[in-house]
Amino acid sequence: MAVDPQRPSGGTPAPQPGVPAPEPGVGKPDPLLVLDQVTRTFGGLVAVQVDHLEVQRGTITALIGPNGAGKTTLFNVVSGFDRADGGEWSFDGQPLAGRPAHRIARYGLVRTFQLTRTIARLTVLENMLLGATAQRGERLLPALLPPLWRAQEREITDRADELLDRFRLTKLRDDHAGTLSGGQRKLLELARALMTRPVMLMLDEPMAGVNPALTQSLLGHITALRDEGLTVCFVEHDMDVVMGISDWVAVMAGGRLVAEGPPYTIGRNRAVVDAYLGKRHDEPEAMGEEA
Ligand SMILES: Nc1ncnc2c1ncn2[C@@H]1O[C@H](COP(=O)(O)OP(=O)(O)OP(=O)(O)O)[C@@H](O)[C@H]1O
Ligand SMILES: [Mg+2]
Repeated sequence: MAVDPQRPSGGTPAPQPGVPAPEPGVGKPDPLLVLDQVTRTFGGLVAVQVDHLEVQRGTITALIGPNGAGKTTLFNVVSGFDRADGGEWSFDGQPLAGRPAHRIARYGLVRTFQLTRTIARLTVLENMLLGATAQRGERLLPALLPPLWRAQEREITDRADELLDRFRLTKLRDDHAGTLSGGQRKLLELARALMTRPVMLMLDEPMAGVNPALTQSLLGHITALRDEGLTVCFVEHDMDVVMGISDWVAVMAGGRLVAEGPPYTIGRNRAVVDAYLGKRHDEPEAMGEEA
C-alpha cells in the first residue's frame, strides 16, 4: 500500500515518497472511487458540495467532520440511497451518478447505516440472507426458478455461516436480531454487508454506541478486511479510532472537503481546527442570539 500511516517522530512531517500531498482534492495512485463536483441541497441548505475526492484502492479512509458536516449525506448520494443535485462520481471507472443503490451494490460498493438497519423480528441468519438479496435488488426471479434458487440458497446460507463464524455470531444465529446488543447489531450489519463480497465498504459510524471490547473487535475486523484487499471508507467521531486504523483522513465541514491527508497531518491542520472549533451545533450559539 502506498499510504503510510506511521507518524514520523517529532516536528513537521517530511513529505514521504509515494504519499499524496495533504491537500483537499489531491490525486492518488490507483483511485477506486472518484468524486467530481458532487452537490446535494435541501431547500436553501447546501448539505454537500465536494469539488473533487479520490479514495485510493486498498486503503482505510476515515471521513470526519463536525455534526451536520454532510458526511452521511455524501454516503447516501454516492451509494445511490439519495439523489445528487449535480456532479459525477465513478467506481472502478464505472460512472455511478443516477444509478440506484442495488445497481451500485452490484458493482461492489456497499454501505452500512449510522442507525443500524437490522430487522428485529428476523433471526440473525435471516438478516444475513436478506443482505444477500436486498443489496442486489433480486426478488422475482428466484421464485420462478425453484431448483436454481435452492442451489443458490445453499450457497448463500454457507456464505452467511462462514461470516457469522468470522464475526463470532454463530451462537446467535437463530436468535431474533431484536435481542442483540447495539454492538452485536453493528457486527451483524458489517457481516451482512459482506454477503455480496463487496470491493469497497462505506461504513457510517460503525463503532457508535459500541462498548470498548467490541470496538476493538470491530477495528480488528476492519483492518483485516483492508489487509485482504477491501477498500474501506468509514465515518467516525472518535479521533483515537481514526488515528488508530486510518491510512488516510478526509475532513468535511459545511458540506465541503476542507482537508485531507495522512492521519498525522490532520491534528495540526488549520482548516480542521477551524471546522471543529468554529461550527459545532452541540455548542451554545454565539452571544446575543438567545431565542
Ligand atoms: N433529508 C434531509 N432533509 C433536510 N436536511 C437534511 C436532510 N438530511 C440531512 N440534512 C441536513 O444536511 C446537513 C448534513 O447532514 P448529515 O446528516 O449529512 O451530516 P453528518 O456529517 O452525517 O452529521 P453527524 O456527524 O451528526 O451524523 C445537516 O445540516 C442536516 O440537517
Ligand atoms: Mg451522519
